[in-house]
Amino acid sequence: MFRSSTNKNLFIKLKTFMDNVKEPYPEEPPKPEVEPKTIEAKPHLDLIAKYSLFREKFQPKADTVYHPCGATDVSPSVAFPASRVIYVDIDEKTVEALKEGGFEAYTASALEFDPGDVDILIMLNPQISPDIPSSHVVENGFVLSNDYHGTASSLHHNKQYQLRAMVRVSRGGELMLDTENLEDYWREIDTEEEFQNAPFDWGAANYQMAVPVVEAVTGKRENVLAEYKKIINIAREEQRQENAQMLAEHPEWAEFIGDPDKEDIFMFNYSERQFVLSTTLPRKKGTVDDIFVFQKKKPTE
Ligand SMILES: C[S@@+](CC[C@H](N)C(=O)[O-])C[C@H]1O[C@@H](n2cnc3c(N)ncnc32)[C@H](O)[C@@H]1O
Repeated sequence: MFRSSTNKNLFIKLKTFMDNVKEPYPEEPPKPEVEPKTIEAKPHLDLIAKYSLFREKFQPKADTVYHPCGATDVSPSVAFPASRVIYVDIDEKTVEALKEGGFEAYTASALEFDPGDVDILIMLNPQISPDIPSSHVVENGFVLSNDYHGTASSLHHNKQYQLRAMVRVSRGGELMLDTENLEDYWREIDTEEEFQNAPFDWGAANYQMAVPVVEAVTGKRENVLAEYKKIINIAREEQRQENAQMLAEHPEWAEFIGDPDKEDIFMFNYSERQFVLSTTLPRKKGTVDDIFVFQKKKPTE
């Protein structure tokens, strides 16, 4: 059986060792107990202040406030203490927490849930289109939303709704309700000064990020807005050429190749450096985090 006495001796030694080991596979040390994350309904002071400012200025009818996709945020109940506030979320644990906090809450998709007539709809970062929830809003009722998930942009294109005001923090840090030149919340900046002064906005280009790429390409830190736009066009053209080449080599990839004119972001390589170019420019006023106040128009308006 053993080809040499060395092998035999080794086997005997190993067997003796194994026989003496009582637990050849020691148990894993117990894992430290991780506190389960508690989900709790809670209001947010900044949102209460914003909704309250809207309420004071507009004095809206507010019998029913509907807040779908709000997770555990119960700020509407504090800002509208005399209203029936309906919370709807698709996440069961979230809704359990809301119910435990004594709030009227339903586990459902807001794309299907019918809250009845709603005077004020609130949607922040909802992950869904506002089309269905906003269809429950009564004539002259309001929708308060931000635009981080494109909710406000979607309502802007909905002919039934009109932007009536913006609730935001001013440059000086004051909470304000703005009703002036509301079209500026949709218009892109078009001067160097506006680019320099635009507040940080998620997803949009900003002056500080534009300067290095402009400097790398032009050797100057001047006319940043105009030069940045030119660089975006260069990036689009490069992408167009790359796509054409890719398509020639792999025609079967056609459906996966995007349209460079619709890209929000480009990775732009220049002189062995790589820059991220956002093709969305800041708006003349506001950011996607502001509260857009829409009102539902009468059908004839
Ligand atoms: C990104 S969170 C936003 C939460 C809160 N509004 C905020 O701004 O912090 C999106 C919430 O919407 C919920 N949600 C996603 N799709 C939904 C749907 N179809 N119906 C109801 N709730 C939904 C998620 O469960 C989550 O709580």
